[in-house]
Amino acid sequence: MGKEFKGKDIISINNLKRNEIDLILDVANEIEKNPHKYENCLNRKIMIPLFFEPSTRTKMSFQMAMMQMGGNIIDFNPDLSSRKKGETLRDTSRMVNGYNPNVVIIRHNKDGSAQLVADVISCPVINAGDGQNQHPTQTLLDLYTIKELRGKIDGTKIIMAGDLKYGRTVHSLLTALNLYKDCNVTFISPKELRMPSDFIKDANNVKIEERDLSDLEKSLRDVDIIYMTRIQRERFPKGFEGDDLYEKISRKYCLTLDMLENSGNSHIKIMHPLPKITEVDKKVDDSKYASFWKQAENGLYVRKSLLYLVTGGKNEE
Ligand code: NCD
Repeated sequence: MGKEFKGKDIISINNLKRNEIDLILDVANEIEKNPHKYENCLNRKIMIPLFFEPSTRTKMSFQMAMMQMGGNIIDFNPDLSSRKKGETLRDTSRMVNGYNPNVVIIRHNKDGSAQLVADVISCPVINAGDGQNQHPTQTLLDLYTIKELRGKIDGTKIIMAGDLKYGRTVHSLLTALNLYKDCNVTFISPKELRMPSDFIKDANNVKIEERDLSDLEKSLRDVDIIYMTRIQRERFPKGFEGDDLYEKISRKYCLTLDMLENSGNSHIKIMHPLPKITEVDKKVDDSKYASFWKQAENGLYVRKSLLYLVTGGKNEE
């Protein structure tokens, strides 16, 4: 299943069709249910994770996925690499290509960096987040979680809250929802951090509404899911009111258990790509609303699916 994926780069949700996404999610589900069948499917395959930005879940789940399927990993620490001496990403990538890995994962703070690496490296390259642009593997695990929660993705009513300007997870999730039918997205953010107009323009198949941060509580009633995001302080450009803005926003922006209980919507679920800082009160963590722990776990199955498909892994039927 999925032979057409062999050798493919995963750079942007824009490069995937709906039936391809559905296939990745189906394979992830099959792997979640039958992990033992895939224990050796990446034998002798080698992954190089080029993480130039901090990562906990994305890096660890890719590494775990590789190891649980019999593959190997080369360790890479940007702070102990030649980047510190001024080597360019293009040169590092060209050199990596010469070692002939089976798959390369790239996370970098520059928009477009994943495509740059894919242009130089001949094996499949997977984008694990390029600046404020895209985070396609997060989106695939988000879609997997939405399907798990609702049984389908069509017709999803979702609030995207927080830093919609610099948050790459909501950018690629919006792009993906545009491929499905009858989705409603409500953006709730501080006015300084609104969803960029280009992403809105491209999502013309999604019904979109924008609301102010002060409308967070009353908006909970009408949706299936609230997708919370962290304020991406490290991406604020210099001169963008910086720390003052962060302090102002983080004081106003917090989803509490009381807000959820008072919403009258007992079915609402909270998703979050994590890490969460102050935007979700910790009393929510063990409530029936919190879906972000299983969402993070789903990253393992979706990344196993991607590694299996793009490297052309062989499972035991
Ligand atoms: C996200 C990211 O890196 O964009 N994290 C993740 O991969 N789960 C979200 C964030 O850092 O806020």
